[in-house]
Amino acid sequence: MKVLLATSKPFAAQAVQRIQKIIESAGHSFTKLENYTDKAQLLDAVKDVDAVIIRSDLIDQEVMEAASNLKIVVRAGAGYDNVNLEAATARNICVMNTPGQNANAVAELVFGMMIFMQRNQFDGSVGRELKNRRLGLYAFGNVAKMVAKISRGFDMPVYAYSPLLTHEDLRKEGEYGVIAAYSNIELFQSCDFISLHMPLLEETRDCVNYELMSYMPEDGMLINTARKELLVEEDLIRLMEERPLFQYATDVKPDRHDEFLAKFPKRYFTTPKKSGAQTTDANINSGLAAAKQIVAFFDNGDECYRVN
Ligand code: 3PG
Repeated sequence: MKVLLATSKPFAAQAVQRIQKIIESAGHSFTKLENYTDKAQLLDAVKDVDAVIIRSDLIDQEVMEAASNLKIVVRAGAGYDNVNLEAATARNICVMNTPGQNANAVAELVFGMMIFMQRNQFDGSVGRELKNRRLGLYAFGNVAKMVAKISRGFDMPVYAYSPLLTHEDLRKEGEYGVIAAYSNIELFQSCDFISLHMPLLEETRDCVNYELMSYMPEDGMLINTARKELLVEEDLIRLMEERPLFQYATDVKPDRHDEFLAKFPKRYFTTPKKSGAQTTDANINSGLAAAKQIVAFFDNGDECYRVN
């Protein structure tokens, strides 16, 4: 079988070498398309491949039509909102993700951004500490769990609410030491910082709006390492205009980036390129998991982590 690694934002070289080794040792051929800038390059590269490993690369109907041999797509990462699942299912293409493999990398970035913002982007002015500040996790998947674990070292009380879990289920996650909120309103009311951790689904799109954010304190901070579509950008701009201390740190550049930057230069920060999973460790974890999942799929039809 021919396996393509298609990454417009490439993995660390070390991860790529190890992915290649796993694929070739199992008797498959390996090819890669890295740093591509044009969809035409992807359409050309997928023409004769049986499997593709991707990151946030867009796999839509057109790409699948161009890939007539394609049998499996593995998104090396958590979120698979970049793959058209309906089109894949219609073509009997198996789509998988590699849940949890980059969770620690993203969780560490949450703390990096909280410190960076609380220290006024290291501009030398008087900042604030994380200790005793209340942290709210909106949704409670693999990344949120790592954030909860790390927060103990910072002495931050942690609250959680997930529209995808019952209150009882959340309370059962005792090992993470989180206080389970009964509603998203209670979560936003109870916390100084809110960190978003839900997947992008039709039900979660635009779920963070003006009303919900206005339950946060005047000097609150929102951290988004998930997806930009989860929040209503114009609502956040309105809230930040009304509250001169409110902050927003994000790893997913907003559509209204220029407006955020012009209006709130010290209270807004975005990474120039999504960086949550951009560590050698996470690249190795998720890339190798993807390669192993493909080998197991072709060897014995293993469909663990299938999402469609
Ligand atoms: C994920 O869903 O796993 C993260 O958003 C990482 O995305 P990336 O692989 O494009 O950096």
